[in-house]
Amino acid sequence: GDRRHHSKQRFFVVDLSQALFDFVIQLLPTAEEMTVKEDVRKLLERLIRTIEPDSRLLSFGSTANGFSLRNSDMDLCCLIDSEERLSASDLVTMLGDLLERETKFHVKPLPHARIPIVKLSLDPSPGLPLGIACDIGFENRLALENTRLLMCYAMIDPTRVRTLVLFLKVWSKRRKINSPYQGTLSSYGYVLLVIYFLIHVKNPPVLPNLQQMPPLRPISQEDTHMGDYNTWFFDDIELLRQRWQSSNTDSVAELLVDFFRYYSRDFSYNNGVASIRAGLLKKDSKGWQNDLSNGRYNDARERNRFCVEDPFETDFNVARCVTKEGLYKIRGEFMRASRILALRPRAIVALSQLCEE
Ligand code: CTP
Ligand code: MG
Repeated sequence: GDRRHHSKQRFFVVDLSQALFDFVIQLLPTAEEMTVKEDVRKLLERLIRTIEPDSRLLSFGSTANGFSLRNSDMDLCCLIDSEERLSASDLVTMLGDLLERETKFHVKPLPHARIPIVKLSLDPSPGLPLGIACDIGFENRLALENTRLLMCYAMIDPTRVRTLVLFLKVWSKRRKINSPYQGTLSSYGYVLLVIYFLIHVKNPPVLPNLQQMPPLRPISQEDTHMGDYNTWFFDDIELLRQRWQSSNTDSVAELLVDFFRYYSRDFSYNNGVASIRAGLLKKDSKGWQNDLSNGRYNDARERNRFCVEDPFETDFNVARCVTKEGLYKIRGEFMRASRILALRPRAIVALSQLCEE
């Protein structure tokens, strides 16, 4: 009875962990794709420097944080080191014109967006069978830092963290719940949900909280802050690997099963805020309550159905685009995934069912 049950459970977990690694590996970008992308970045940097000689073009998002899938978009950020510089919207307009003239990219400048960007895309070619899509923004230093934070978390426990995150990115895209423009959650939001779960829900934790670890030596306010935001985190990963070892030995499959269970059953969507910095917070304490008494068309309420705190911009709800319908869909998907895994099917069957389009 018990022994047999136990060994069946063991088999399921081992089998599913292996299947998850195999599944994720074949979705990683090829070396060729990464080379082409780096070449594109260098080319664009050279062109931008004809407008702003003191500028640098840096990668952020998935191409820079270790959570990149084949054919994922490229997020680029232009930093300008000179004192006198053009406004972001002027730069977007000028850069748009320049790229239109000088390159084969399809160019769409959005100078009046909340965050002005130039959108670029390139048609498929032998090196990039699916083409390339890329956004260039300006001076988004917080995004560069949160990319570095995510990358550090990925490096602490590459196998478990990257496998979980990459799987959830594919899963959420195939299940159509990864699109902030349609009321669901961005990839960035899902990554934060995974990290929150690994630091604050799993006991013992799989990851340390890098933002709460004391610095090795005192550092000035100026070195820890960007504007009003505290962007400090422990980033000496080599040292951390020598000194910190998680006592949590759960396999990837066990973590995935628990992740789906937690977000389908236990997370408090009505009152809770998932914060990788501070653990579970209350909507009340952040002024993010979705109080029904505020009337039907209350904007704040619509923006705070699902609350995921940005690690640095702590007054920013990363899940603010999630609508009532979007949240219903997301929670439905967490429940569906839990249900599929509870039946312990063969791993290949489980993965193909989970990611069915
Ligand atoms: N970002 C952010 N705030 C958000 C959304 C995104 O600061 N509300 C920044 C983060 O630095 C994030 C990057 O934009 O790493 C890219 O976000 P996103 O496209 O959601 O994540 P990717 O990891 O690039 O996923 P994908 O491969 O799906 O593009
Ligand atoms: Mg991206």
